[in-house]
Amino acid sequence: MYQQPIFEGRTIMTPGPVEAHPAVLRQMVQPILGQFDPEFLKIMDEVKEMIKVPFGTTNKQAFAIDGTSRSGLEAGLIALIEPGDKVLVPAYGRFAYLLGEICERAQADVVYLEKEWDSPFIQADVIAAIKEHQPKLVAMVHGETANAQMQPLDQIGAFCRENDVFFFVDMVATYGGIELKVDEWKVDVAVAGTQKCVSAPSGMSLITYNDRVEQFIEARYQKELGLGSDERSDRFVSSNYLDLTQLQRYWGPERINHHTEATSMVYALHEALRLMLLEGIENVHARHAKNDRILTESMEKMGLEIYGARETKMGTVIPILIPAGIDGEEVRSLLLDQFKIEIASSFGSLKGKIWRVGNMGYSSRQTNVLHFLSAFETVLKKVGYEFDYGAGSTYALEEYLK
Ligand SMILES: Cc1ncc(COP(=O)(O)O)c(C=O)c1O
Repeated sequence: MYQQPIFEGRTIMTPGPVEAHPAVLRQMVQPILGQFDPEFLKIMDEVKEMIKVPFGTTNKQAFAIDGTSRSGLEAGLIALIEPGDKVLVPAYGRFAYLLGEICERAQADVVYLEKEWDSPFIQADVIAAIKEHQPKLVAMVHGETANAQMQPLDQIGAFCRENDVFFFVDMVATYGGIELKVDEWKVDVAVAGTQKCVSAPSGMSLITYNDRVEQFIEARYQKELGLGSDERSDRFVSSNYLDLTQLQRYWGPERINHHTEATSMVYALHEALRLMLLEGIENVHARHAKNDRILTESMEKMGLEIYGARETKMGTVIPILIPAGIDGEEVRSLLLDQFKIEIASSFGSLKGKIWRVGNMGYSSRQTNVLHFLSAFETVLKKVGYEFDYGAGSTYALEEYLK
């Protein structure tokens, strides 16, 4: 006989997935509604509006897509790309290569602009590469989760707009944790996910795009044959499931019959966004900034070194260099097995070199920070790291008591 699995709660201090807000999980056990039930349609319309706030946009188009964050990345990119189109991907971390990979699969001609992962690009360097390569689209990551660096976007966005280049940005790791200005930075398509600062389970992505994109993709709409043969396009998007032109009509007033919506996930998303707006988006950002500062400074009190450029460090991840002689995986295992606390390692050239502590969403709160720091110090002492034991956790406590 199979047993019902029962899990002990975790303190999740990774850069995603993070702890879902308990109220969000409670919403998911509401009865199933059909996807065209008027009460459900009302929530969809509210979700569309709420999604815009953390993005900093007044775009008409903003909605959610079933599938993890990369479903939104893929939907947005394949809607813009046609075979042979040139795409510039400035890469300063792991997730830029995901964008490039999606573009390659869409048969784009992908040009990578590469650099060390310890800082983002100087915007002028990206602009120079746009001048040189003349791409149709620039695809970038705002916050690189793997190395905790964040890319300034305003000058690149302005240049793209002036030169009729599409600007596509992955905001998966910053949405809901850091102030975003999609309109002001002239981002044409922006994508986020549910499992990071939104504090909902993984399983949906959020997308917004402007009129310019909407007009461009309009000619690519093709109605499914089962719904009628009157709207054909010889430039149709190569995926049915992730076809933005159909998804837009599913979330819009046409309400076309596309997929069967994951209604319970939409309840979760609605509640997560509602809670974020109830707290106040500025307060949400300020909470993340405070916890980021305290976590970072506490690490330094413990003699640990933060990886990468400080002025461009992303506020939702703290990347810590693993001290010489310390087994990073042993520390992670002790934290998880003995304290039920999870932190992350990293990828590529940073694998085994840094720990990543997440500071995201519902996990970004005082009790988590204090609990984690106390446990981390105990574990570091146990594995033989020499430092002023207690310096980090007592510093953090003093900061919270101020
Ligand atoms: C910056 C960034 N982009 C994209 C992704 C991919 O998201 P998902 O795993 O939700 O598909 C992640 C996931 O960690 C991410 O951090």
